[in-house]
Amino acid sequence: MLSLTEKKGEPSLDKFVIHGGKPLFGEVTVSGAKNAAVAIIPAALLVDGVCRVENIPMVRDVVIEMEILRELGIGVRVVNHSTIEIDSRGLNKYSAVSDLNRKMRASYYLIGAFLGRFHRAEVAMPGGCNFGGVRPIDQHMKGFEALGAAIETRNGIVFADASKGGLHGASVYLDVVSVGATMNIMLAACLADGQTVIENAAKEPHIVDLANFLNSMGADIMGAGTDVIKIRGVERLYGGTYSIIPDQIEAGTFMAAVAATGGSVLVRNIIPKHMDCITAKMEEMGAVIEEEDDSIRVTRSGPLRKLQVKTLPYPGFPTDMQPQLAAVLCLAEGTSVITEGVWESRFRYSDELRRMGAKIQVDGKVAVIEGVEGLTGAPVRASDLRAGAALVIAGLAAEGTTEIEEIGYIERGYEDLVEKLRKLGADISRVSEEPAADPIPRAN
Ligand code: UD1
Repeated sequence: MLSLTEKKGEPSLDKFVIHGGKPLFGEVTVSGAKNAAVAIIPAALLVDGVCRVENIPMVRDVVIEMEILRELGIGVRVVNHSTIEIDSRGLNKYSAVSDLNRKMRASYYLIGAFLGRFHRAEVAMPGGCNFGGVRPIDQHMKGFEALGAAIETRNGIVFADASKGGLHGASVYLDVVSVGATMNIMLAACLADGQTVIENAAKEPHIVDLANFLNSMGADIMGAGTDVIKIRGVERLYGGTYSIIPDQIEAGTFMAAVAATGGSVLVRNIIPKHMDCITAKMEEMGAVIEEEDDSIRVTRSGPLRKLQVKTLPYPGFPTDMQPQLAAVLCLAEGTSVITEGVWESRFRYSDELRRMGAKIQVDGKVAVIEGVEGLTGAPVRASDLRAGAALVIAGLAAEGTTEIEEIGYIERGYEDLVEKLRKLGADISRVSEEPAADPIPRAN
């Protein structure tokens, strides 16, 4: 469970301590998809009624977002550990400029949601994981402008204004396939006048999930999951109940953990189709995958084989699984090559894996990994969410003790990770540290 300061997104000195080298066995149930939840929660601002959202992962980004909504005066009720109700009927603000916004990337969805509802938005520029490169939002802005909004950024705040002419449907061709831009434009277009067409749209499962959520509340969105999405503006959206899809990346992370440690685990509550891009690579590496209706069994007993992989937008291999896959490939026979095809740079974790004995060379968007016999535990530091997940996987497979700092990043996106891994036989615990009187920061 997250503590109060952690819930508010403050950094903590807590760490994960892992005594590695134990294979994983048993069953694990995957939570709802974080990247769907962080879009669906702001989408509820468009709804003139109460949205009951089920299968919510209570991860830090979700908790921060619920707090942002509460700051706006919206009723957010936690019904149980995975269900919330959002009542935005009385919402009369289109401004979210508090520090909480800067703590997470997905706060940019508030721009689309406010614009859709009020034709105006003032939102502090998002923070979130920093992979070491830039994270532009120009395609979001291009979409909003096409729909009739004037956009300006001042003092770290995005001002979007369509109050004079209103929002009207338009054709938007995305210059890069962007998950965030696709969803944000969808949000703004739902209540706009006329039809919006997004071309070269992203196709990730959470895009389909957002469209399904909005449609179930009365929106008219067609084509989500293909590269052309058509949104016919409707008068209003009504309240209802919706259940979020399972988290593809959390499922993939458990699969990668089993591939690294060996063992056999049934990963439950997944949509096998969403896992295809990941299962294909797991099988190529030598893991045995057995699919059922809503679960996947991963077994790894033999040696791991080298791979060539390039991350791509869905249905390609997800960039959000790249660090975890790299951690596994550190233990594969032969030399593997990973090309990052989505982000400018996403290999900051490689320095930490090297501390554990990995042989990784990084040159720009390419990492070359020469497999080693085994990794050894070390003190390491997470630099972002999935980098942290990679370190957990490496720590589970390594001989000896691994201590992972900056676990706040990991808790942004994994619900009950420690508890879930312990049930599979891992020796991992979350240790709270008192702040030192005069901390000397370690160089990055
Ligand atoms: C989302 C995910 C993130 C994942 C990424 C790619 C959330 C909250 N985060 O991030 O975990 O790694 O998708 O699957 O859902 N780009 C532009 N201009 C823009 C927007 C993006 O050039 O306006 C570029 C980015 O620099 C990047 C690529 O497009 O190279 C993909 O980014 P995008 O799909 O937008 O990522 P996010 O939605 O921010």
